[in-house]
Amino acid sequence: MTEMSGKFPPEKQTGDGDDPSLDRLRRAAQRGRPGHLEEAVARPEAPQPRRDQPAAGPGQASRPSAETLEAVVAAPADRKPRPASGPEKASSSLGANATTPIGKVVEIAGSGSRILLDLNRLHACSEDDDPSIMLAGQVGSQVKIRVGKNWLLASVRTQKQDDSVAGGIVAAIDFLGEGNEERLTGRLTGFRRGVTTYPVPGSEVFPATSDDLRQIYASDGRANVQIGKVFPTKDIRAGLYIDAMLGKHFALLGSTGTGKSTGAALILHRICQAAPEGHIVMIDPHGEYSAAFRQTGMIFDVSNLQMPYWLMNFDEHCEVFLTTRGNERQTDADILARCLLKARQKSRLAEGMNKLTVDSPIPYLLSDLTSILQDEMGKLDKASSSIPYMRIKSKIDELKADPRYQFMFSGMLVGDTMAEFIGKIFRLPAEGKPISIVDVSGVPSDITSTVVAVLSRLTFDYAIWSRDEKTRPILLVCEEAHRYVPNEKNADGSSVGNILSRIAKEGRKYGVSLGLITQRPSDLAEGVLSQCGTIISMRLNNDRDQAFVKAAMPEGARGFLDSIPALRNRECIICGEGVSIPVRVSFDTLEEHKRPASEDPSFAALWNDGGGEEESVGRTVARWRSQGR
Ligand SMILES: Nc1ncnc2c1ncn2[C@@H]1O[C@H](COP(=O)(O)OP(=O)(O)O)[C@@H](O)[C@H]1O
Ligand SMILES: [Mg+2]
Repeated sequence: MTEMSGKFPPEKQTGDGDDPSLDRLRRAAQRGRPGHLEEAVARPEAPQPRRDQPAAGPGQASRPSAETLEAVVAAPADRKPRPASGPEKASSSLGANATTPIGKVVEIAGSGSRILLDLNRLHACSEDDDPSIMLAGQVGSQVKIRVGKNWLLASVRTQKQDDSVAGGIVAAIDFLGEGNEERLTGRLTGFRRGVTTYPVPGSEVFPATSDDLRQIYASDGRANVQIGKVFPTKDIRAGLYIDAMLGKHFALLGSTGTGKSTGAALILHRICQAAPEGHIVMIDPHGEYSAAFRQTGMIFDVSNLQMPYWLMNFDEHCEVFLTTRGNERQTDADILARCLLKARQKSRLAEGMNKLTVDSPIPYLLSDLTSILQDEMGKLDKASSSIPYMRIKSKIDELKADPRYQFMFSGMLVGDTMAEFIGKIFRLPAEGKPISIVDVSGVPSDITSTVVAVLSRLTFDYAIWSRDEKTRPILLVCEEAHRYVPNEKNADGSSVGNILSRIAKEGRKYGVSLGLITQRPSDLAEGVLSQCGTIISMRLNNDRDQAFVKAAMPEGARGFLDSIPALRNRECIICGEGVSIPVRVSFDTLEEHKRPASEDPSFAALWNDGGGEEESVGRTVARWRSQGR
């Protein structure tokens, strides 16, 4: 307690040899009402009431002076404050645990302020009926600090034993915001984010009650969706502000099995309910979400996606049509650029257009492209090789003939279906189904990333070209985002990484919002996570992932961050724009028919259940061969 002694006026020992400041705190505890310590700090010359002269504290004057703090907190009347209306109902007066300090401030620094907690008080609180008081002082819990007539709210980031005081614990805290103290009840009202007045060392620290949390997490009136309960309370609803969350992108992170996909479905369902004329596109690499959105969404997969190949821009064409690397690829790309432009120029739609480029989404015939390649090849002089032409042409022929690529390269897709395609994918109009699920699980893996690139780029380009129209913001949600926007180590310069990074940086100017879902945040491209204004983090088991998320989260959320490895399934920490202050939430249970189909198979049950294997293998082989699903 060396830090303390300099800041507090010298004080006579009270006889039991304990730290004098902690002793004062105990006396305040005996009096049952805060305020005492404050007096002592504010008027150092004032005579200090002595332990052996019990001060007549308001309301509790008749209590006998206790020998030790343990004795005080063991007094049953103090120990279980039970307001008649039940622990979580707003009560007019607060119980003893809520009004008795659990510690005091020892150090205030720009970041990393510290408080001294009294272990005995924490023990007493741990038996309180209010779950919020019960966790008082624990890592991730919230505490109130009295500053004049205001309350400061802070979250506890770390705890460590302080050997200089028996039962003393030093905890690092982060300030979350402040509110006023209600005159008669001492409760916190009018909470706001940020801190205007810092406490001085010695200020008293109290547990935040469920009532306080109700105040703090109450909606400020902006449009929001409720997704779960504020931890650790039994009934306080946790909400996400729709505009703030979607306006600056969001990320949903968590190890496998923590409930990410179900959490994502829950959030999207609630958003769809609140905004039935919305426009949401979900890229679903595992085909999980179709089960969840049969009623409120349009489900697209290879059987009905019908995405015309000519929507691809030049880079995307290269990813699909070119098979070479290095110098050879450059040669091939030059040839493809020339021939593709000629093929597009042949379209009736291109007539009279003076700005046609290889990137223009103008339909062309694949057969036109191959015959142009053929023509060009014929015009070559002896010295030039025809091999690059042959290479491209045979790749195109291969794609045309392969049934797995029909959803994109079918001869049926030559018509000008662009407006129709955009309308159905972006739900314009929504027609009661504001979300489209694009199940890319059946797309051959070598072109999955290009398919995602085309969809993402269309989203962005549509937003740019529709600027003169009424704004219709679009949310693009991407599961397994680390696959599509990988970090430098895994980067392959693919167009999907480029377009998603671009949307992350510029999307919000045009009303395109990004929702990135991943279990590997450390594999995400650098900078993408920090573009996400709202981070929803479920448990992350891996150190690197945790470090990555911490770096992307705002400072005030640090106290919550340290609980990320300890979260239970279906629990998350939310911080950033979408919430007024960081919050730990347990997601609501989502109705079964709204959950994604990600249920893990039960070996124990299924391996006890035989019959019908031969038929099922037969059917599987048939499907496999015909590539039908
Ligand atoms: N909010 C929830 N309501 C109901 N069930 C849930 C919820 N969250 C998770 N689950 C269940 O937990 C399991 C794992 O969830 P899932 O969303 O697939 O995790 P992840 O995508 O992180 O791997 C699933 O069986 C799912 O049904
Ligand atoms: Mg999942």
